Amino acid sequence: MPYDFDRPIDRRNTNAIKWDAYSSDVLPLWVADMDFAAPEPVLAALRVKVEHGVFGYEWASKELLATVASRMQKIHGWQVTADMVVAIPGVVSGFNLAARIACRPGEGVLVQPPVYPPFLKVHENTGLQLQLAPLRQVISTETLHYEIDFDEFEAAINSDGARTAMFLLCQPHNPTGGIYTPQQLTRLAEICLKHGLTICSDEIHSELLLGGASFTPMAALSPEIADHTITLVAPSKTFNVAGLFCGFAVIPNPELCQAFKQEVERLTMHVGSLGLAAAQAAFSGDCDDWLKALLCYLTDNRTFLTTTIARNFPDLRCTVPDATYLAWLDCNALVSSGRISTSPYKFFLKNASVALNDGATFGPGGEGFVRFNFGCPRSNMLAALDRMKSAFEALPPA
Ligand SMILES: Cc1ncc(COP(=O)(O)O)c(C=O)c1O
Repeated sequence: MPYDFDRPIDRRNTNAIKWDAYSSDVLPLWVADMDFAAPEPVLAALRVKVEHGVFGYEWASKELLATVASRMQKIHGWQVTADMVVAIPGVVSGFNLAARIACRPGEGVLVQPPVYPPFLKVHENTGLQLQLAPLRQVISTETLHYEIDFDEFEAAINSDGARTAMFLLCQPHNPTGGIYTPQQLTRLAEICLKHGLTICSDEIHSELLLGGASFTPMAALSPEIADHTITLVAPSKTFNVAGLFCGFAVIPNPELCQAFKQEVERLTMHVGSLGLAAAQAAFSGDCDDWLKALLCYLTDNRTFLTTTIARNFPDLRCTVPDATYLAWLDCNALVSSGRISTSPYKFFLKNASVALNDGATFGPGGEGFVRFNFGCPRSNMLAALDRMKSAFEALPPA
């Protein structure tokens, strides 16, 4: 069945944060949601709920928890059971909950910047200390990617006088779009287990695999690693239902799982009935043809974006993401040459009327970067790149 990802859908004046935060002349390519309609089976499931008309309290059904477990098996070959799955309102809630049960006040939570900004707030929300193990930038002529500095990673554990209790992993990684190999993950896990850390692995982007990339869940590496890992997944990014607030924690360790469930109850972190219905349809397999087509479209968007950046923006360098619909653009040459005097984020907003994410909000290593969301019709991306190019051409020469 053909799917039309080129069709523009007007999202202005719908309270969409992405579209309504800036004035109407601005093209928004920032917040990580896509400008595509959710797949038809999800819409049909929501219609059924709406037609029923009663929206009382609901729990996540056994069928839904079993569907999530089978999805892990089907997509990643990771064997889990329904009793290990806990419904949560979202992945950000999930990693804050994980920190509350895995850490005692004053202990440390370890993250790898530059990283999705809510990672850098967990310690403030939960009375913990933030510990940083920055990713290492590897630059080639036109592109860049990131690697883990394992020595620096281990050195950050128990740094600044705080015992590290949890490593909050982002993989696939936002904003770099990188996927760690099983070998890299194993090495990270070995270090964490050696120091007694719980691993919380945010795998929200794990089905958005571009160009046939492959992905291994951290907890699928071994039963021992699984025993120390809380994995967070959701249909929200893949099937574009983020506003329905539904995610899942998968926790094979029974004590950890029980503690997590109790915390969910204590804080009444329940999921709305429409989110549960959407998740069931999204993970059922009925949307997989749509997903296949989406991944082809996003892969083509990625190629178009990265080749355009290389061709038309000699001062910029861009990641070639293996996953997500996010590209990470290094604009530091533009800043250091003095061609722009504000941050690149402000430059593109003011001079091109294009709203990207400000790299500085992703923590150390993010300054001078912007994040570009290519989960949109190609025409939109083209229009944004044209505007950015004109803004560049109007700059004084280097
Ligand atoms: C890595 C990562 N985790 C979590 C989220 C948000 O998850 P949720 O909306 O389920 O809280 C995002 C959204 O961009 C993300 O990129």
